[in-house]
Amino acid sequence: MHIASNFVAVESLVARPALRRLPDKDFKTLELSHDPKFVLTGLEIGLSSNCNFHCDYCCAYELNDRSLMTSRRAIEILESVDTLQRVKLSGGEVLIYFDECVRLIEYCTERGLQTQVNSNGSLLNAEKIARLETAGLGCLHVSYNFTRAAEFGAYYKQPEAMFHRIEENIRIAAASRLEVVTETVMFRSTQYRLPEIHHRVHALGVRKHEIQNGIPIEKNDWAEVLSGSEVEQAIENLVANRHPGVALYFSCIDIDPAGNFYPRVMELLTTQQIHFPSCIEGRNQLHIHSNGDVLICELGHAKVIGNVNSGTELKKLLDDKPPALVDFLERRNNDACSCVIRTLAQPAAAH
Ligand SMILES: C[S@@+](CC[C@H](N)C(=O)[O-])C[C@H]1O[C@@H](n2cnc3c(N)ncnc32)[C@H](O)[C@@H]1O
Ligand code: SF4
Ligand code: SF4
Repeated sequence: MHIASNFVAVESLVARPALRRLPDKDFKTLELSHDPKFVLTGLEIGLSSNCNFHCDYCCAYELNDRSLMTSRRAIEILESVDTLQRVKLSGGEVLIYFDECVRLIEYCTERGLQTQVNSNGSLLNAEKIARLETAGLGCLHVSYNFTRAAEFGAYYKQPEAMFHRIEENIRIAAASRLEVVTETVMFRSTQYRLPEIHHRVHALGVRKHEIQNGIPIEKNDWAEVLSGSEVEQAIENLVANRHPGVALYFSCIDIDPAGNFYPRVMELLTTQQIHFPSCIEGRNQLHIHSNGDVLICELGHAKVIGNVNSGTELKKLLDDKPPALVDFLERRNNDACSCVIRTLAQPAAAH
């Protein structure tokens, strides 16, 4: 396996005074805030894109490219950015490299950074959940798209026992101090099932449910993306049948400020339980792949705007704004490779 790392001694870098309390762990704080634009407060690190699943919808960059960024190298990169508030570990299934994840979370905790791990939930158990908790992990974000073992097994081509293991892991984690968020992708297979999924995650103990709009991927045979009106109908159906004890986060929803759905979104925000997070990619957040590539957003057709192993300085990137970032921000690309979703700019009074 190729290890994308320059080994240097970083122990000295992590020697910091102990914190009095763990970092704040509120999910989506950055996306729901009014932070100054073009300050790098969030970093998503794809420690490895290797995965034990083969989801049809997967948009992970360079999936299964067999490379791993060690926690040492990741810490080195994090040390170069003093504006950070949150670090997300994603992949692939990063929990394949459990010890590397724990080391990185411990570093972040010590530095006072919020942490999130994105996982399919399949590789955890009670002991590992306890270790993540001890390391100071803020949010464990677990994919959850099917409520029946047979359907899960058929879709993911996994044994049905895997479904029960994931549910059990969600249950154990939800009973811990971790903030557990389940994420459901909104696509053809879940379009009419969102309320059922939503109530099931509540029964598992989850109190925050992210509904992620399905993003078109490079594969041209994935015909499961919903149209704008189907997305709005699915949101209305879920909102009408939602559990009052579970907060909802609708991510990557295209909201035209001059369109009919906008006033409805404003009305839903007044519940304080229904959120439409802003997209902060290329403004406050970047994604780093295990080979050092810096991406604006990993979903869909990722745009590479640098490589930290080839001299790209993360701190400068948002100020310098390479051409691909300018195109992305101005929504100028019509090559089907750049995201054109208009997410909500958070209104001052809403959150
Ligand atoms: C790339 S996965 C990595 C984490 C972990 N392996 C998992 O599946 O949860 C990160 C998140 O992206 C979501 N995702 C993957 N492909 C997507 C797509 N085409 N549209 C929207 N979300 C997608 C997954 O559901 C998951 O929540
Ligand atoms: S969505 Fe997650 S679990 Fe599925 S193949 Fe991609 S990285 Fe793996
Ligand atoms: S760039 Fe597009 S797909 Fe990526 S987070 Fe923002 S709205 Fe979502």
